Amino acid sequence: MIDKLDEAINELQNEIYENARAEFGDVAFERWLHPLHVGTINDPDRQARVTGSCGDTMQIFLKFENDHVKEASFLTDGCGASTVCGSFAAELAIGKTNNELLRITGETILQILGRFPEEYRHCAFLAADTLKAALQDCHEKD
Ligand code: FES
Repeated sequence: MIDKLDEAINELQNEIYENARAEFGDVAFERWLHPLHVGTINDPDRQARVTGSCGDTMQIFLKFENDHVKEASFLTDGCGASTVCGSFAAELAIGKTNNELLRITGETILQILGRFPEEYRHCAFLAADTLKAALQDCHEKD
């Protein structure tokens, strides 16, 4: 009985995974399964929290060393798509200077993803906007 239940659960999970992969593409799917840079940073130099038009919130934390981002992380209370986008925003930020951070946009994240459902494209812009807001936090402290 338990074996059959396990089997049914596995089948259902596989179906959900395959549907997600088909809808979001391989890059986003893999990052959704294994998001990088999730969480806070101890004593961040810069941080921001932005609520998007959908009501979801993104937070980005940055730590600098020699004018470059040494550590970056994110938190979101949003959907899986916002987790994927926050993860790529943090990854893109690492190693960048302030000026280089300014060049990261929602389109930058969407280009990495390759394809992404139209209704979730705003998640990429929320992640990029939060990164820029963190940079603003930087300007206020300079
Ligand atoms: Fe709101 Fe993704 S950030 S649905």
